[in-house]
Amino acid sequence: MTLPNLSATVAQPGLAGNGARADGQQRRATLDHLSLSPGRDAQALGQRSRNAVWHPCTRLRPDDDAVPLAIVRGVGPWLHDADGRRYFDATSSWWVNLFGHANPRINAALASQLETLEHVMLAGCTHAPAVELAERLSALTGGALGNVFYASDGASAVEIALKMSFHYWRNTGLPAKREFVCLRHGYHGETVGALAVTDVEVFRDAYDPLIRRAHVVMSPDARQAAPGESAADVAARALAELETLLRERAGQIAALIVEPLVQGAAGMAMYDPSYLDGARALCDRYRIHLIADEIAVGCGRTGTFFAWEQSRAGEAPLPAHLWPDFLCLSKGISGGYLPLSLVLSRPEIQRAFVADELARSFLHSHSYTGNPLACRAALATLDLFAQDDVLARNRERAHWLADGMAALAADARLRHVRQRGLIWAADVRDDVAGADFAARFHHAARERELLVRPIGNTLYVMPPYVFDAAQARWLGEQMMATLDDVTTDVTTSGEVRHAA
Ligand SMILES: Cc1ncc(COP(=O)(O)O)c(C=O)c1O
Repeated sequence: MTLPNLSATVAQPGLAGNGARADGQQRRATLDHLSLSPGRDAQALGQRSRNAVWHPCTRLRPDDDAVPLAIVRGVGPWLHDADGRRYFDATSSWWVNLFGHANPRINAALASQLETLEHVMLAGCTHAPAVELAERLSALTGGALGNVFYASDGASAVEIALKMSFHYWRNTGLPAKREFVCLRHGYHGETVGALAVTDVEVFRDAYDPLIRRAHVVMSPDARQAAPGESAADVAARALAELETLLRERAGQIAALIVEPLVQGAAGMAMYDPSYLDGARALCDRYRIHLIADEIAVGCGRTGTFFAWEQSRAGEAPLPAHLWPDFLCLSKGISGGYLPLSLVLSRPEIQRAFVADELARSFLHSHSYTGNPLACRAALATLDLFAQDDVLARNRERAHWLADGMAALAADARLRHVRQRGLIWAADVRDDVAGADFAARFHHAARERELLVRPIGNTLYVMPPYVFDAAQARWLGEQMMATLDDVTTDVTTSGEVRHAA
């Protein structure tokens, strides 16, 4: 077996000295375990994957013979491939990872859970991890929300919230309330029900005949600000449009669904928190449920544990009546380890389902609902938040990220530079991005040990909460160097230097 030279990787922040040797040994062990030899077999594994696995969100083009990156292990913010190369997981593996790969504390919690109970159905049975997790999450909302309903992926949580809302109104004598409202370019998952409230054409349009489309209202995306307008002004305009719809159709509308503060798949579109207050007030006025989809933005990404906590100018604790009616979590809640999603709701929602008639019961389930291993990973995640004062330390990390990205933020090729908590984003100007920008940037970044997936022309990073100041600087430098690799040359004054 030929082992690749690791010397190129040890100079980077995060791994040094003995760590590199241990790293090499561990990698060798992993490759042995998988019967892989670096180089040749990484390509072979990728090829086998192409043949055997239908990869998500991936085009199958007749002339495209690209194979997926064969990852053999992860440690901290790094992912390692079978060729001995490593990649900084700058987008937390589709926004799920919070405390790095192979986190020893989450690993230990899972190992101990494996010794006791791997799974039991949650209908008619229960277990300590599901109960404890539900209690602790409810406590994080000051008891405003609770009655945790478990599922596995984000889209299932969204489906549950939509179904519960509709069913609540039916149980309370308002069966005509069966329409939903979502924000322009909002994303809530790709099952048929979730697609109804997802306004992203590439995901939705092929399935349009299957979908009961929701009302789509103006997004408060601050990038729409006209000259002289603030983000709060844009939010006010969006609220005015929302009110027009709610006033007209309150009798038919069950719920409004929003991604609080950041619309991830829209290209990390960020907006003013006043939109959340305004939406809460309008939903109260017109008797419409408010669903906060915190699948991507929950668990500390935006600076607070729940993004919703930043409504009301961050008034803490947030009074019970100002929370949303439903709050969906997934992704980071299990630390990025296992598929787990859940819906928290107000106590009065569940009360409407207490009845003798079967038709009033919420007969929804998934086989792995409340899986003990996933719940245990989530409890270990909450322990990390509590024991390490993660939210306070993330405020410092947010500064490191801003500093690391400062040169990029000042670059004339970028517009709409924005940051909320540990999510940093900017849009590459159309005139310099060129065709297939996202794919070209992704591949060029891999050459620089960086795993990123721009959304269209939007560059963004949202790394796991384990990076240090040096890594933030390195990240900014690599993003800049990759941008240089893939764009037309532009001077800092904004002048485009066209190639001769
Ligand atoms: C805001 C939001 N809602 C829902 C989902 C769907 O989650 P999943 O992919 O786990 O079904 C996502 C996924 O990115 C998301 O960002």
